[in-house]
Amino acid sequence: MTAMPPDLRGRRARDPFWVTVSAVFRGIERVRSLRAPVIPNVPPVDRTLRLVVQEVRPEADGVVSLRLGAPDGRALPRWQPGCHLDVRLPSGRRRQYSLCGDPADRRAYRVAVRMIPGGAGSTEIHHELHEGTTLTVEGPRNAFPFLVRDRYLFLAGGIGITPVLPMVRAAHHLGADWHLVYTGRTRASLPFLDELAALPADRITVRADDEVGVPDGAGLLRGARPGTAVYCCGPAPMIDAVRGAFVPDGNRTLHFERFAPPAVVDGRPFEVELRRSGLTLRIPADRSALDVIREALPDVPYSCRQGFCGTCRTPLLAGDADRRAPSDPDDGSILICVSRASAGRLTLNL
Ligand code: FES
Repeated sequence: MTAMPPDLRGRRARDPFWVTVSAVFRGIERVRSLRAPVIPNVPPVDRTLRLVVQEVRPEADGVVSLRLGAPDGRALPRWQPGCHLDVRLPSGRRRQYSLCGDPADRRAYRVAVRMIPGGAGSTEIHHELHEGTTLTVEGPRNAFPFLVRDRYLFLAGGIGITPVLPMVRAAHHLGADWHLVYTGRTRASLPFLDELAALPADRITVRADDEVGVPDGAGLLRGARPGTAVYCCGPAPMIDAVRGAFVPDGNRTLHFERFAPPAVVDGRPFEVELRRSGLTLRIPADRSALDVIREALPDVPYSCRQGFCGTCRTPLLAGDADRRAPSDPDDGSILICVSRASAGRLTLNL
């Protein structure tokens, strides 16, 4: 993607692609300004694509990117910064990955995956996928919409750069005032530093823990002046630190995306009876039913673990559910990653 040259007064020229993207963002913003759910209510996308891995590329220590394209080379559905794909791996596991390529490139999607020790999905991607592997994906979906603002502070931790990178580029092309703080354990662990080098260096701060220590929430937010939209993606402690230090002033907004499920809040212990398996399990107050069930039935499908993808939806045979996600209607099933029993026991068709 090339930047449009400035006009004679030094103003950035309006790239037709980004004018279109801006209009889409404004439409999303109007819709979302009506309500702000705690858990994003992402409508299901009735779109399944068979894509081929065109390239597996090392991007940093423990991180590879996948370039995915249609087998016949046809143009892929459009996406906006913040979108993710639900990826079904050859094993049947489902995982979600943010799109981190160029939205103008309709020939391929790019996702990046960090190797997580003991993580079955990341292990399969790092060790078993190769050029030519066919994957099934659903999406793109957008649970982390990028809104048009005049000023942004982007906070990315490690692999959390993936949804943030297209946002940074979008902010730059829209002519916004922006700054990126990119943190991680070491510089070698940070993917896409080479691509960020093409953007103005004075707008990017790279903080490696082994050089300057682990940042705190207040330090990360230091550049969030009034009127700033803060976009944050990274490990749970980083997001929690930023949320704890963020003081809304009416003009500043905080938008974040988790890669790990949020902690259970106000949970009470309950039991689940797994009718087909003949098991009854006790769910502690601080754990999800999904986590406990997977210890007994490791093949139970899941993806987001946050109540918006629908992968873990399970038929509910008996019991009263405490439904904790907007996308968990009372339709005879339950999202076991977030919803719980309002009292007593739930009987599931597992
Ligand atoms: S795993 Fe996504 S809704 Fe439960």
